[in-house]
Amino acid sequence: MTRGISFTGTPDDDWRSRAADVIPGGSSTGSKRPDALYGTRALDAAVPTHFERADGCWLWTPDGRRFIDCGMALGAVGIGYADPAVTRAVVDAASRGNVTTLPHRLEVEVAERLVDVIPSAEQVRFLRTGAEASAAAIRLARACTQREHVIASGYFGWLDWCSDAPGVPRAVRDAVSWVPFNDIAALEATIAALDQAPAAIIIEPLVHEVASVAWLATARRLADRTGAVLIFDEVKTAFRVLTGGVQALTGVTPDLTTLGKAMANGYPLAALVGRAAVMTNATKTWISSTAATESTGLAAAKAVLEWHERVDVADRMAIAGGMMQEIIGTALTEAPWVGVRAEGPPMMWRLVGDSPEQLDALVAAAVRGGVLLKRGAYQFGALAHDEPSLDALAGAMPGITQALLPGPRRMED
Ligand SMILES: Cc1ncc(COP(=O)(O)O)c(C=O)c1O
Repeated sequence: MTRGISFTGTPDDDWRSRAADVIPGGSSTGSKRPDALYGTRALDAAVPTHFERADGCWLWTPDGRRFIDCGMALGAVGIGYADPAVTRAVVDAASRGNVTTLPHRLEVEVAERLVDVIPSAEQVRFLRTGAEASAAAIRLARACTQREHVIASGYFGWLDWCSDAPGVPRAVRDAVSWVPFNDIAALEATIAALDQAPAAIIIEPLVHEVASVAWLATARRLADRTGAVLIFDEVKTAFRVLTGGVQALTGVTPDLTTLGKAMANGYPLAALVGRAAVMTNATKTWISSTAATESTGLAAAKAVLEWHERVDVADRMAIAGGMMQEIIGTALTEAPWVGVRAEGPPMMWRLVGDSPEQLDALVAAAVRGGVLLKRGAYQFGALAHDEPSLDALAGAMPGITQALLPGPRRMED
């Protein structure tokens, strides 16, 4: 059952093996599979694969060990795990009947608040996942323009329209041209080379760094000139870079925007928002899901939006993320043998290894030292990364880098 790892608990507690038996790849979320978490090197039982409970920026494994989390649920949790205000709102919504035959009034209330804080938002449709929101944006753009081709730059989730994974029909893949991030010439050349005007230009406006105003403005100009719908995927960036996302930071306003992740502090809620003239076409095509109006996610989003009204959440995320980056980055600079650097903007930064093996080794050593790092992109600052937890991080880092010293002290081999 233990597949070569030295597990010392009872077989019932061997969550990694039990998961491997019943869940292909070990987890339903790609980035939470053991291979994605830690790389493909052999892992011992000290390396956790499941959590039992989480609070603030800490999580506990089923065997009671505690870890400080730097990845914060792939950026889905911006306030903190089990935040009391969000939890109260969700429990209250659940206890009042999560879904009925009618949508809850929260659908209207949260839509109104999104219109207030997201520059491009005049109207709103809710969905459950970021992938659904981007698929809805593309469906809407194609319906509006009665065109098919899409220009895309970024990651938009797992659904067919934006995937080249096995199982996606070639015709679906051929309907999208991919352009590199921040490359004005490539964007212009790709559109010039098309034999048809595009339905949409869709951009993820922060990948390793914030997109340049010049690139986003070029996309805006080309969309206007060709009659394409300009879409920003702000699933990771809204409620983080600023409450209003990269569009609020750069002043470049898309026609449509997708939202998700930190909007509901980990509860599954996404949204497609945009200009009323475009959004209104949602009634002429088909975008709908039974759980799109579930009250719990909407209640969580309302509580998060109230957090943003009370304090400058984005600023605090950037401060917390920057301090985390400073602590880990300094420890890595002082330990050149580790071969990993901390790079990127403070609110969402990444680990860059000289080799994949060095990155794997750091992440494995860190978790043995009580620190859960995301392998590569991104580490996300949250409000919950407070002084005591950052002090604990600072206390743990020297032992983690020392453990990777080459020679007899090396723990990895
Ligand atoms: C920019 C962006 N868009 C869309 C998605 C897909 O969101 P979800 O995983 O909720 O479907 C992600 C997920 O990481 C993302 O980062």
